Amino acid sequence: MSGADRIPDEIAMKAIDPKNYGDDSVHEAFRWLRANQPLGRAELEGVYPFWLVTKHADILEVSRQNDLFHSGDMPTTFTTVEGDQMVRNMTGGSPHLVRTLVQMDAPDHPKYRIMTQSWFLPQNIRKLEDRIRQIAREHVDRMAALGGECDFVNQVALHYPLHVIMEILGVPPQDEPRMLKLTQELFGAQDPELNRQRQEAMNNADAFAQIQAVIADFFMYFKAITDDRKASPREDVASVIANAKLDGQPINDFEAMSYYVIVATAGHDTTSSSTAGAVWGLCANPGEFAKVKADPSLIPGLIDESIRWITPVKHFMRSATADTELGGRKIAKGDWLWLAYPSGNRDEEVFEDPDAFRVDRKPNKHLAFGYGAHLCLGQHLAKMEMRILFEELLPRLESLEFAGEPRLSQGNFVSGPKSLPIRYRFR
Ligand code: HEM
Repeated sequence: MSGADRIPDEIAMKAIDPKNYGDDSVHEAFRWLRANQPLGRAELEGVYPFWLVTKHADILEVSRQNDLFHSGDMPTTFTTVEGDQMVRNMTGGSPHLVRTLVQMDAPDHPKYRIMTQSWFLPQNIRKLEDRIRQIAREHVDRMAALGGECDFVNQVALHYPLHVIMEILGVPPQDEPRMLKLTQELFGAQDPELNRQRQEAMNNADAFAQIQAVIADFFMYFKAITDDRKASPREDVASVIANAKLDGQPINDFEAMSYYVIVATAGHDTTSSSTAGAVWGLCANPGEFAKVKADPSLIPGLIDESIRWITPVKHFMRSATADTELGGRKIAKGDWLWLAYPSGNRDEEVFEDPDAFRVDRKPNKHLAFGYGAHLCLGQHLAKMEMRILFEELLPRLESLEFAGEPRLSQGNFVSGPKSLPIRYRFR
């Protein structure tokens, strides 16, 4: 590593500080990095050094080479040295509190992924289309009943994907508020309005204790569902997980619980944020609203553009399993890398006018779902849910505008719109 590789500390801080995701100023740091140090090394106090990968091509390159860049050897999301050590002390050396697909590498990863992969393929989830449309209609009706003004995040977007994924997991509707709260506490640990303690700056010990408590709650809840589905399997993915086998043996409870947690949590916050992002983008760009209203064949374009524009998953980490070269830099075995998805999704070399929200952007090769072996398992479900909602909503919507200041949540892992006051007229 040469000194020239080092990113100025203030830029590195700007790119990773959860607060800067709350006011969108993080894009200034990413713009600077793409132009001046697209693959630079951050060396900040209290954290392991890491490479900040900000170019679309480099993120793809790392994601594609799953043998060379592992997900599970180091923490899969960013943490401090102190935070990492606390986790390792508690787990007896592992950097992970849960063991989900996200933390696995080959040979285990493909074996676990295959357990549910076919369930999430387009040809299978197509069977859910009618039921999802019914749920979408209920949410659009609810919006109509709100009388022309609502907070789209809190009254619509947070509930619709939650309802879909909970039905898929076999969680009854009366328990959805509990699942929503747990997910918000898990992903919202960095946002003072969303974390369990409702406090400004949580230290490592507090944040760690919160995450541990949330995971314990999740595990307790899903244990009952696992027992039920083992005794009487149904058509849902809960039954697939509960009865999954690895090399002929049932998977253990810890791994089954972890599987539920990843599907339960990855499956709605991200989709809610993207759904809210679509409405945000349409309010901010009345011309785009007019375009997609006039031509519903643009709805899939609206969906992809919203996911690109919001990019709800802000990063995942990888670590190098061997010395290698990337973007002209020498990466050493063991080096840690931060894949900056929001930056890749605004890379000027790939996207014309990248900050603009265009429903007819073509091509739109965003990497909000990642790439390679870990490519989002639920991407077809997420896109289908969003498409159906907008197919139901747009024909009924005559006007749409902001009714107040929209706000983003603070978080450098999973974050997005936190409140979106809108005014609208239904046909
Ligand atoms: C993985 C994004 C919706 C389940 C991922 C990854 C990203 C992502 C970036 C990591 C990819 C990588 O490391 O290369 C999103 C976005 C969504 C979304 C932006 C919505 C717009 C969903 C839904 C589900 C889901 C609805 C429901 C099942 C998963 C799972 C993984 C994953 C299980 C781990 C896959 C693996 O490691 O093999 N997602 N996701 N996601 N996602 Fe999603």
